[in-house]
Amino acid sequence: MPDTKITTAGTFPLAHHPVNRMGYGAMQLAGPHVFGPPKDRQAAVAVLREAVASGVNHIDTSDFYGPHVTNQIIRDALHPYSSNLVIVTKLGAVRGSDASWNPAMEPEDLARGVHDNLRNLGVDVLDVVNLRVMGDIHAPSEGSIEKPFTALAELQHKGLVRHLGLSNVTSKQVAEAQRIAPVVCVQNQYNLVQRADEALVDELGKKGIAYVPFFPLGGFTPIQSSVLGQVAARLGATPMQVALAWLLHRAPNILLIPGTSSLAHLRENLGAAGLRLSGELMAELNAIGQ
Ligand SMILES: NC(=O)c1ccc[n+]([C@@H]2O[C@H](COP(=O)([O-])OP(=O)(O)OC[C@H]3O[C@@H](n4cnc5c(N)ncnc54)[C@H](OP(=O)(O)O)[C@@H]3O)[C@@H](O)[C@H]2O)c1
Repeated sequence: MPDTKITTAGTFPLAHHPVNRMGYGAMQLAGPHVFGPPKDRQAAVAVLREAVASGVNHIDTSDFYGPHVTNQIIRDALHPYSSNLVIVTKLGAVRGSDASWNPAMEPEDLARGVHDNLRNLGVDVLDVVNLRVMGDIHAPSEGSIEKPFTALAELQHKGLVRHLGLSNVTSKQVAEAQRIAPVVCVQNQYNLVQRADEALVDELGKKGIAYVPFFPLGGFTPIQSSVLGQVAARLGATPMQVALAWLLHRAPNILLIPGTSSLAHLRENLGAAGLRLSGELMAELNAIGQ
């Protein structure tokens, strides 16, 4: 089995902190469909505490997970926060009573969202806020983000947010945002089989901006591939570990936030930090998404 020390995978700067490249995404801690409370709140608290005890110092969340539930669990589990922990949250949507995800990108929505996150996380300033662009909910689509990103930059000037990032965006939108305020990370969908962002990963790497793939394991339907299974068997690892290790090897500016509500899966995922993939194995895995 791979080394479970997550520091093996190295660090990349996020919000002026050298965070471990193996982080944790908290979305799975809410109830089914990311709505309402989880069945076992203590289990969710245990997952977060073990992640941090194992060296995770980058946690991704949002107040629209639950809504409010995930942030409140993070607060219960980890507050007062260690000074080296970077919590990244996101704004841009609100949940309907039917669990729907609805755009909320007007300046007043964003201001309300910042205050919701501050209150539920129990902090005076948010480390990083991503603007989650909702032009097309499921994939990046072109269109100006000047108005909402300017509103977030104003909240940053007021001292409520330290750093800004983006989610579900195109290269053009990153450039537009950078003319307004510095962008420290971009969170888009990307994994072994979803490779639309190949160029953006490298473009951001050249600019020193972290690329944080969401759905690194394939999201609600974890990735299935016979090649992935065969490579994993040869390495004595699991397919999910190889999918994460592939991302770690893909580019140094990739930071991982795999999501899980299970301690066993957390341990398995963190174990991917110690997995080495040769150039030959990378070529074999690269072919899956091409
Ligand atoms: N910006 C955005 O629009 C956006 C969208 C989606 C997600 N996110 C962020 O990205 C993070 C990661 O995404 P995600 O959690 O949706 O997807 P993911 O990490 O790709 O996969 C999570 C799914 O895989 C399962 N899983 C986790 N580890 C596993 C393992 N070792 N073996 C088998 N199954 C495993 C989880 O179930 P179990 O709970 O049973 O382990 C869950 O169903 C989220 O937590 C969230 O913070 C952002």
